[in-house]
Amino acid sequence: MSAAEPLASPRLVVVPAAGFGAAAADLVAQTLAARGDAVLGLPTGNTPIPLYQELLRRAAAGEANLSRARVAMLDEYLDAGTVSFRGWLEDHFLRAAGVGPERLLAMPSRPENIAAACVHYEEQLAAWGGCDLQLLGLGHNGHIGFNEPGSEADSRTRVVRLSEQTRRANEEYWPGREIPARGVTTGLALLLAARRILLLVRGEDKAAILERTLRGPISSAVPASFLRRAADVWVVADEAAAGRL
Ligand code: F6R
Repeated sequence: MSAAEPLASPRLVVVPAAGFGAAAADLVAQTLAARGDAVLGLPTGNTPIPLYQELLRRAAAGEANLSRARVAMLDEYLDAGTVSFRGWLEDHFLRAAGVGPERLLAMPSRPENIAAACVHYEEQLAAWGGCDLQLLGLGHNGHIGFNEPGSEADSRTRVVRLSEQTRRANEEYWPGREIPARGVTTGLALLLAARRILLLVRGEDKAAILERTLRGPISSAVPASFLRRAADVWVVADEAAAGRL
């Protein structure tokens, strides 16, 4: 695929770092205003923290209504000891937002019958009507979810081996704890099928990979580049991350 391939929906919102959470929250609010029980696909990690804080602030102030929102997890560790993306999401957002298990589609995390559990995850999401807004962070190697370089656009929800780079980056979330060698991720096919996608990117250290994502060749070498083929994609970047665009 050539670098000249047209962007399907390159809606790029560049904001000062201090306005990042509010800009992203505005887009989430738009989805929730259209549909109170919207399905939100949620990532973990450093990038979405200002968004989650802002959504919780708005909900507490009566400015946002999360009472019917449904959440689909984006990814999870497989067969982990003490680390868990579900636990992370509960601590940083779900518990305070009042999203209980009945409104959470958890990613399977046990190795037993994992292939069937991945199919079941996709079926459950379909039964919910699919994802209204898929939020994503961007890995330094261009991964989205745990779709590491080499992941194809038609990949399904599955077990993946985590790159060393990703495992090192994840150590930051869990100081001193063991990061599993494998994860489970929503496949690119399902991510790209979301009715709207919101890629969140913060910090100068993401500027080079954001440039490759938006301006480089569309290829499995940078899985996030496939987002340019989806119908309704927004990128919210702070000024540092957008510095090379
Ligand atoms: C997390 C996830 C990852 C992160 C990405 C960026 O659930 O799916 O793809 O979004 O690694 O991580 P941060 O935001 O910590 O830089």
